[in-house]
Amino acid sequence: MAEKKIKRIGVLTSGGDAPGMNAAVRAVVRTAMDMNMDCIGILRGWQGLINSDFRRMDANSVNHILTRGGTILYTARSEDFMTPAGRDRAVTTCKMLGIDAIVAIGGDGTFRGALELSRLGVPVVGIPATIDNDLGCSNYTIGFDSACNTAIDCIDKLRDTMQSHERCSVVEVMGRNAGFLALYVSIAAGATAVLVPERELDFQRDVVERIQNARLAGNTHFMIVVAEGVGSAFDIGKRIKEEIGMDPRVTVLGHIQRGGSPNARDRETATRFGYRAVKALSEGRSDCIIGTKHGDIVEIPIEEALQMKKALQMERYEVLEAMGNFSH
Ligand code: F6P
Repeated sequence: MAEKKIKRIGVLTSGGDAPGMNAAVRAVVRTAMDMNMDCIGILRGWQGLINSDFRRMDANSVNHILTRGGTILYTARSEDFMTPAGRDRAVTTCKMLGIDAIVAIGGDGTFRGALELSRLGVPVVGIPATIDNDLGCSNYTIGFDSACNTAIDCIDKLRDTMQSHERCSVVEVMGRNAGFLALYVSIAAGATAVLVPERELDFQRDVVERIQNARLAGNTHFMIVVAEGVGSAFDIGKRIKEEIGMDPRVTVLGHIQRGGSPNARDRETATRFGYRAVKALSEGRSDCIIGTKHGDIVEIPIEEALQMKKALQMERYEVLEAMGNFSH
């Protein structure tokens, strides 16, 4: 709980970047100004707080960033912040710069850092932003929808050439240890099969039979989506060659999924999250994560938020299978 009136907020982005992070930064800065608070941009996430890397923010410093991918504040994953000495230096930076509270934009690593900092007496509010959408505390995380659209664009293009050559394509998508991105994208792109870490791989059932069913339905090209948490798409491609005799082409979408202009959902969500984070601080609430629950914006204590798990909706998997049994 923020006991004293917040006059100056530090805002940072940390962990893997996500489309919409800039929109969230803009919303934090503008809301702070609107509520007569001062704002400082901390560069390079928690590492920047340790090193006192900052820039003053005013209304003009966030002009034209609503549409921009990446993060103007840069981002990093900080080993130093994992140590008590690093965190003490971060607290010193806050004191030196007169920062009364921090708004931290990122994923679970960012929020673990936020919890530690809050325990040292610095009020913190977290904003969920990760293309993985793997945070239990929020139905939605900034960047997911834009990343899905980027992946779908790529897969649609792959499909064109796979169709012409009557080939099998194996596409690896990001998601760290989670399959949310892969499953969502697979349904939207009409994949033949999807492999996610949440479901133990049975190669015969999940790949061979999916391809057989699609072939029997009249298809001559096949799209297998592999979540990176399952393992390498190249290994899956190799097994397809060994066990079915096809000669698949493998594509790893990689960091391309993290770039690009945020779409409407990410801009809108980021702006609402940013506004709510500052509003919470202005009303004396802190040490929480802003999230969505059934469309509403909620504030969840950080410790509780970090323990919440989000399950992959297996019904989506069934939907994909039902669709894949027919001709494209
Ligand atoms: O958490 C976002 C994410 O893009 C994951 O999907 C991926 O596993 C990871 O970050 C990649 O991290 P890096 O940018 O450090 O390679």
